[in-house]
Amino acid sequence: MDTKGSILSLLEKRRGEFLSGEEIAAKLNLTRTAVWKAVRALENDGHDIVALRNKGYCLSVSSDIISAVGVKKYLNENCSNFRIEVFPTLTSTNTYAREKADCGEKEGYVVIAASQTDGKGRKGRSFYSPPGSGLYMSVLLRPTDLAASDAVKITTIAAVAVCEAIESLSDDKAEIKWVNDVFSGGKKVCGILTEAAFSLESDCIDHAVLGIGVNVSEPEGGFPPELKDIVGCVHLSTCDGKNRLAAEILNRFSEYYFSRKNYVDKYRARSMVIGKKVLVLRNDEAVQAVATGIDDKCRLIVEYGNGSVEHLSSGEISVKIEENI
Ligand code: BTN
Repeated sequence: MDTKGSILSLLEKRRGEFLSGEEIAAKLNLTRTAVWKAVRALENDGHDIVALRNKGYCLSVSSDIISAVGVKKYLNENCSNFRIEVFPTLTSTNTYAREKADCGEKEGYVVIAASQTDGKGRKGRSFYSPPGSGLYMSVLLRPTDLAASDAVKITTIAAVAVCEAIESLSDDKAEIKWVNDVFSGGKKVCGILTEAAFSLESDCIDHAVLGIGVNVSEPEGGFPPELKDIVGCVHLSTCDGKNRLAAEILNRFSEYYFSRKNYVDKYRARSMVIGKKVLVLRNDEAVQAVATGIDDKCRLIVEYGNGSVEHLSSGEISVKIEENI
C-alpha cells in the first residue's frame, strides 16, 4: 500500500477521531511533512479530512468517498478473498476487469471507479456514470463448472444482493425488472451487466465479469433529459454510504454465490414483472403476453393470447412491462 493508502487506512479505522501527525508518522515510519503532504493529496481526491493544529487529522464521519480500505471495513469474513482496487475514473470497470482477467488475475478481484467515461450497459447501450453520485463496480469470477447456459445465475444473484443491500441501508423498497434491472420508487436505480468468456471444450464459463452500477444520489445538475423520467437513485440513510453499499452488495452476493444458497425464490419475490402484461421484444417483433412466473433457471414464463407458454432466456429477448392485469 502506498503512503496515501496507509494513512487513509489508519484514519478510516478510527473515523471521527483525531490522530496526531506525530502518531501517524511514527506508525508508518514517515516524516510529519510526508504525512501532511499525503493528507493534502487525500483531500484533493475528495476525502473530507479535518486538520487541527493541536489535534492532528480526522476523517470526517460524513466523508463519502469510496476507497478500498473504506469498503473492506464493512466486508464479512466470507469476503476475505476479495482484492479491491479503486480509481477516480476509468472508461469502464467491466473493460478494466476483463483486461485483468486476460492477464491471469484470479477470482475475487474487484474494481471500483468513482466515474466512468464509457460505462457499458446491456445490448450495446451505455450506462451514465458521472462522478460523485454512483457506485460503479466489477467483480471477476472464475466459476468452476458453470455451464454457459447458466451464466444468468450470476446476474440474478447480483440483482437479489443489490436489492437486499439497498434495503439494509435505506428505507427504500427494491424490486427487480427481469432480468438485470433494479427499481426503487418506480425508477431504475441499478443496472447489472455480466460479461463472460467461455471454454469451447467444456461449454463452461472460463471467467465472468459482473458489473454493477448503482445511482446513489442525483448527479450535479440532475440526470440528462433522456434519462430523468426513467432513472432514479437510492436514498441511503447512513453515513459513508458508498463504501457500505459496495460492501453490503459483495457480502450478500458472496453468501448466495459461494455457498450456493437458494436465491431464486428471493428473486421471484422481488419480481415486478410477474402478473403483468408484457411486450416480448425479439428481433424486430413485439408480441403481447402475460408474465406468469420465473422458472428455476431464472427464465421468464410467459403465456401468449393463444394459450401457448414459453420460457424466455434473457439473451434472446427483452421485455417491456405494459400494465397490471
Ligand atoms: C444495464 O443497465 O444495461 C447494465 C448497466 C451496467 C453498468 C455497470 S457500471 C459498472 C460496470 N462497468 C460498466 O461499464 N458497466 C457495468
